[in-house]
Amino acid sequence: MIAIATSSEGAAKDGAPAILALEEIHHKYGAVTAIEVLSLSVAAGEVVCLLGPSGCGKTTALRIAAGLERLQQGRVLLDGSVIADPGRELPPERRNVGFLFQDYALFPHLSVADNVAFGLQNLSGRARTERVDEMLEEVNLIRARERFPHELSGGQQQRVALARSLAPRPHVILLDEPFSSLDARMRDQVRDNTLHALKQSGAGTLMVTHDAEEAMFMADKIAVMRRGRLVQFGSPVELYCHPVNAFVAEFFGEVNRLPGTVTGGRVATPFGDLPSRDLAEGAAVDVLVRPEALRLGHIHEGVDPSRAVKVIASRMLGRTSLIHLCINAANGEELHLHSRMPGRFLPPENAMLSVELDHAQAFVFPTN
Ligand SMILES: Nc1ncnc2c1ncn2[C@@H]1O[C@H](COP(=O)(O)OP(=O)(O)OP(=O)(O)O)[C@@H](O)[C@H]1O
Ligand SMILES: [Mg+2]
Repeated sequence: MIAIATSSEGAAKDGAPAILALEEIHHKYGAVTAIEVLSLSVAAGEVVCLLGPSGCGKTTALRIAAGLERLQQGRVLLDGSVIADPGRELPPERRNVGFLFQDYALFPHLSVADNVAFGLQNLSGRARTERVDEMLEEVNLIRARERFPHELSGGQQQRVALARSLAPRPHVILLDEPFSSLDARMRDQVRDNTLHALKQSGAGTLMVTHDAEEAMFMADKIAVMRRGRLVQFGSPVELYCHPVNAFVAEFFGEVNRLPGTVTGGRVATPFGDLPSRDLAEGAAVDVLVRPEALRLGHIHEGVDPSRAVKVIASRMLGRTSLIHLCINAANGEELHLHSRMPGRFLPPENAMLSVELDHAQAFVFPTN
């Protein structure tokens, strides 16, 4: 028997009630610790992405939520009710949870429509057909309803799998790297379709990815994991603009790393001082600067020539240009930095440019 208890601890951070909550989960495979400790909640209608490097425990967390991995420590709550306590678990098929894993397998001998109808056995024939067609409209595959999986592209198969998992109206949907088998162009389109279908469904979504840009595209909230622990949980804007440490800052894109020291509550950089927040006087720090925070311009009167940077190379990357720069640091060392400017900005080699630092995209962390 499963204890049905309600809990307020499962409430999502901003006060919306949690539809799915993992509380103080810990998980080992033999001697290997996959999850040290993890607490996380997802509200109805919300997409939460679990983001982190390979092996940090993302799939394990999802499998525990699905009931595919036996719970060892902690609790899982669905709609405020405990569905898993160590030793007492609701089986996966009774959890009202839909899943879509990386190797989503369609039934090869069933048509598209029959694949989608698979989880709808409790509906009458007519209601089932209506629901199947509604879902196929949703993922833009109504005209393929009689086809078989081998007659579909990878992206179409993925959309059928998504329709199949959403058809029974699960309260929660779990996705593990659902786009990883698609090529880049197809991925963008399928991601877009998936986001619309998830939002339309109103389900709470927990999706695993190791791609920060994909997480920012899909997520209302992102949970960054490292070595079996949650490092930071927040909106994409919070994580990108206010990373709690260098690991999170670097996970969201390339950064320039400048060494520094806290002096009088500030850290000097070749582009001006930054506040050192609450770090101790004399502490060694790394200043992390996003390439787009180094705004280049032509040298004009009033610019301190000692602050000028030299262009080593310029490359057009499409929407942005990447400029390789060289500058002399205070200690006389030469630093190699990257700047990213919008559109086409291709100064010639050896040109001297001025730099303005956008403080909002520069972060000071203690050196570790
Ligand atoms: N069935 C298993 N038996 C033993 N160890 C496992 C098992 N599954 C996972 N692990 C280990 O647990 C840790 C976490 O694995 P998990 O699959 O949750 O990581 P992940 O974050 O999903 O990684 P990836 O991004 O590579 O999919 C890893 O060290 C992994 O090697
Ligand atoms: Mg995984």
